[in-house]
Formats: sequence, C-alpha cells, structure tokens
Amino acid sequence: MHPTIRIIRDEHSTLSAVLRSIGLLLSESRRHGLAPDFQVLRAMLFYIDEFPEQVHHTKESALLFPALRARSDELAAVIERLDRDHARSHAAVRTLEHDLLALEMMGEARDAPARLLRFETDMQAYIAGYLDHMRTEEVEVLPLAEEVLTGADWAALDAAFMKNRDPLTCREADDAFRPLFKRILMALPAPLGLGPALEALRGAHLGERAVAGSRRVAAGGAAGRGPPSVP
Ligand SMILES: [Fe+2]
Ligand SMILES: [Fe+2]
Repeated sequence: MHPTIRIIRDEHSTLSAVLRSIGLLLSESRRHGLAPDFQVLRAMLFYIDEFPEQVHHTKESALLFPALRARSDELAAVIERLDRDHARSHAAVRTLEHDLLALEMMGEARDAPARLLRFETDMQAYIAGYLDHMRTEEVEVLPLAEEVLTGADWAALDAAFMKNRDPLTCREADDAFRPLFKRILMALPAPLGLGPALEALRGAHLGERAVAGSRRVAAGGAAGRGPPSVP
C-alpha cells in the first residue's frame, strides 16, 4: 500500500474514533441527565481544528486532489464537493468550539438548556457529515488514485504526506502537544484510547452529582453555578 493511502486511512480511523467518542459522550450525558464533560470535549474539538482540519484536509486539497484532477476527470464533481466540505468544515469546527465555550461561560443563562440542545444537534450533524466525507474518500477517491496516479505522482505525494503526520496517529508526537493527546487518549474508548472512558465519565459524573448538586442547573432555570444539565 502506498504510504499516502496508509496515512490517509490511519488519520481517518483516528478522526473517526474521536468523532464517535464526542457523539457518545454527548448522547450518554443526555441519557443520564448530566452535563457533558466540557474539558474533554474542548480537547477533542481543539484536536480536530488543529490537525484534521488544518493538516489532513490541506494535504488532500493541495496535493492529492490536484494530482487526481491532472490524471482523470472521472470524479470531478465528487472531488469538487469534497473540496467544498474542507472549506466549510473548518469554519464549522470553529463555530462549534465557540458554542462550547459559550455553554461553559453562560451555564447560568435561562437559555442554557436550549443552547446545549442546539450544540448537540450541530455537533451530531458535523460528525455525520465528516464520517460521510471520509467514507466517500475511501470508497471512491482512494481507489481511483490507485488506478490512475503514476509512480512519480506517488513519490511526490508520499514525500509530502510523510512530513506532516497526525500526532494522535503518529507515535513521535510533538512534546508541546503531549498533554492534549494524553487527555484525549484517556477519554477515548479502547483500542485507540486507554480504557472504557464512558464508564469512567459516568462514574465521575454520578459521584460528582452526589456531593455537588449545585453543578446541575434546573432545566430552563438559572439556579446553580455549573454548566447546564440536560432537560
Ligand atoms: Fe477530506
Ligand atoms: Fe480525508
């Protein structure tokens, strides 16, 4: 398998795990009537903004897609849509990061439960769209690349893709980012992460609820000091 293909697939599987974990954290928190873990969500959204959006997408749009366009027009419309997705999803993750911050900062506001519901809906739509985007790349784009790209194309792509590895996928992560990756890995379910984080999250929330009722905010009300509980 060409290194470019392997790197794209590895980065997709890491990102899928992070996205699915965000979806599970949100749905489990709602199911138990508890506020989601904002710190873990913030770390995961920051990771998505920092690597998949800025590095992974850039490599595809700046290197892989132009090489494909030069060799075939078979998937021209699909590649154009994927390029548009790249531009849109970076803006979308920035909005989600802001909305998450607003949930933390405005936890006592009357509309906090409605804001949380809107955030969950937008986040789940982002997750579904991203998973669909990666599926299209793996099912349609990568097979076409394997069919039409030349040895010289692959040599240039492999050199470029090997340079910018996703630090959550690649073992030699930048020291500055280690605390972030550790936080995310602690939250991700096995095998990518370090354990059944959802259970730990649930246990932590339940323990917290027993000793600190003030963390909960009555649905639609302004009591308490913590982030909103789910209605
Ligand atoms: Fe992409
Ligand atoms: Fe991709």
